[in-house]
Amino acid sequence: MSMGRIWRDITQWLAQVGSDIKASTDAGLLGVARFFGFLYGPIDTSLPIDEALQKSLRFRLPPHAGWRHALGGIAYLLFLLLVVTGVLLAVYFRPSAQEAFPSIQHIVSGVTLGWLIRDLHVWGASILVLAVLAHMGQVFFAGAYKPPRETNWLIGILLLFLVISFGATGYLLAWDQSAYWTVTESLNALADLPIVGGMAAGLLRGDPIVSGATLSRFFAAHVILLPWLALGFLGFHFTMVRRHGVAPLRQPQANPGPGRQFFPNHLLRSFMVGMLVLAVVTTLAILAPRPVGDAAHPGELPDAILSTWVVVDVSRALVHYLGRWGFGLFTLLGLGLALLPLVDRGPEREIRRRPVAAAIGVIFFLGFLGFWMAGRGLRTVPTAPPPAVEQPATVPGGKP
Ligand code: HEM
Repeated sequence: MSMGRIWRDITQWLAQVGSDIKASTDAGLLGVARFFGFLYGPIDTSLPIDEALQKSLRFRLPPHAGWRHALGGIAYLLFLLLVVTGVLLAVYFRPSAQEAFPSIQHIVSGVTLGWLIRDLHVWGASILVLAVLAHMGQVFFAGAYKPPRETNWLIGILLLFLVISFGATGYLLAWDQSAYWTVTESLNALADLPIVGGMAAGLLRGDPIVSGATLSRFFAAHVILLPWLALGFLGFHFTMVRRHGVAPLRQPQANPGPGRQFFPNHLLRSFMVGMLVLAVVTTLAILAPRPVGDAAHPGELPDAILSTWVVVDVSRALVHYLGRWGFGLFTLLGLGLALLPLVDRGPEREIRRRPVAAAIGVIFFLGFLGFWMAGRGLRTVPTAPPPAVEQPATVPGGKP
């Protein structure tokens, strides 16, 4: 059989496979695109895939949709960056008290570009928190949490909680002194909270002190539990955005005009901001890598602990300056924000005519920035007593 004939048969067969897949999976692929929020407008799954995509790309956003409406997409882009770099890190990371620290050392100095992947992950996690807060701020000041978008605000609060939980669980995985003692302090502060504090801290720790058992729990939460929850909540968030559309500037809305097409206008705008944010994350990862400190040593208090993640900075500053009430305040603030749309339901969206909401928002965001700055420079000496000489079997004996 000649080579030309073989080549023709292969291309014919590939064309056949393409049309078979197209015929059988148009609706499925559109469903996936819809679930993962890759398109803004409504997606008609009864149409062939090319027509449905074109219709969706022609979708028009209201004229006031601008740069600030790219913030949610930026948060999503950073989330995807963390998924990709996280999967690559998981190839080399070993989640045990004996091997976690040496495996991080290996990733940073023995794996090709491992240092870059790790620091893209670390910096991506900090910038994601800022992007989510900026997105939340825009939703807050635009009054976009008001009916009928209350559910999506609540889903957003859960997403914020998930983003913080991702960082808090990932923080321990480095298994260095700074991570070990920061988590020890945070769990001690959590245990101080009335009613549920002790039980929650015990459940997370899994041992009388932070140990290999804690590391296993944090790892399982970080790579299995939280990603599945995030996937579900993100799918829900995007469905709600599609159902309600972009919140109007005012209510009732004056004739909004024809608006701008999703493609290319809004997509290109989001793409440009996205590239800029990725460039910033890459630059920070190259210029300010997270140092590989000393291996975690449960019996040895470090001279001081320095944090490297924005939420740790904020929570350490809260605990340092406000004591146990710092954590309680954080929790109350979260609860207050979650319930906001149930209290503030009036139709007014103009921020100048919502002075109380504006004041709460400004205090929250400035407070967050203030505690972040205070936490960054904070060198605290751990107050937790060194564990008793007899340690659980899961705790490593010393530095590797
Ligand atoms: C991982 C975290 C998050 C991702 C990836 C995300 C993603 C998005 C995207 C892509 C949009 C549509 C574009 C836009 O308006 O910017 C959106 C809209 C929205 N988000 Fe989020 N979001 C997240 C967290 C939050 C949080 C923390 C809140 C509030 C507590 C929130 C509340 C909302 C609301 C109410 C809308 C509708 C806004 C409107 O109609 O103008 N989201 N989100």
